[in-house]
Amino acid sequence: MSELFGIIGNPIGHSLSPLIQNEAYELNEIDAYFKAFHVESKDLESAIKGMKAIGVKGFMVTVPFKAKVIPFLDEVDPMAAKKKAVNVVQLIDGKFVGYNFDGEAWLKALLEDMNTQSIDKESILIVGAGGAAQSIYHTLSQYENLHIDIANRTVVKAEELKKLGGNHKQTTVISLEEAENKQNQYDIIVQTTSIGMWPEINQSPITITNLKESAFVSDIIYNPAESELLKQARKNGARTQNGMKMLALQNALAIEMWTGRKVDYEKMMKSLKEALRFI
Ligand code: ATR
Repeated sequence: MSELFGIIGNPIGHSLSPLIQNEAYELNEIDAYFKAFHVESKDLESAIKGMKAIGVKGFMVTVPFKAKVIPFLDEVDPMAAKKKAVNVVQLIDGKFVGYNFDGEAWLKALLEDMNTQSIDKESILIVGAGGAAQSIYHTLSQYENLHIDIANRTVVKAEELKKLGGNHKQTTVISLEEAENKQNQYDIIVQTTSIGMWPEINQSPITITNLKESAFVSDIIYNPAESELLKQARKNGARTQNGMKMLALQNALAIEMWTGRKVDYEKMMKSLKEALRFI
């Protein structure tokens, strides 16, 4: 019997995960089907119970449930518990166990596109302090010598993120205005908010006018493929990366966890690019 996997979120209609997951199953002869489930917040607990009852072996979790899902799972991996967010759930011995691969997927994509094995002593700006920023900040704690500034509209939230997060030696919380003023001091800038996402494509949380010569700018937004922030960064001479590789890697990591099969995420990226041309 085919396995059933899925993703829960709200809204979820535009999720590209079903497309790339089902294509990967077909290419790799994995006998499974992946479906997006639109869930109302009030129904989250019963949706999870229902998935267990009908034999779902794993599911992904997206906005706005990454934190809200935790109380309804049987167990949460320590890293995901620290990040207070879950993006993948697996059924293990009858228990739904939550994990978080967001930060790892982002970091792998970053290192690949920067063409480097590791980052050290870099000065990094994280824009935003929500779930995605949290996961990225925690993942970066494996590098001890980074200087990290966290800039957020609500500065208190960035303070909270700093308090919760990792073993970073040096983190400073700043406002978005300060980040804009200091932009030429950063080697890497990562944009983690939804500002600039389709359909508000002309917005950017900070205006890029003056970057360090070798700067690398990463935006986790993938629709549009080039956000306003990335456009400005490219015009200022930076190397840039959108969120497509991160999305493909998140899905590839989920498939690997559920089925033990490594799938080609480059192929997933090709399908994503193709699909986004028609949205
Ligand atoms: P996610 O889990 O996708 O990261 P989230 O937890 O809701 O989503 O976080 C959204 C992030 O986008 C936050 O950093 C938020 O800033 P606040 O903490 O000030 O709310 C940021 N954000 C969203 N809309 C924004 C806007 N219009 N201007 C500035 N920041 C915004």
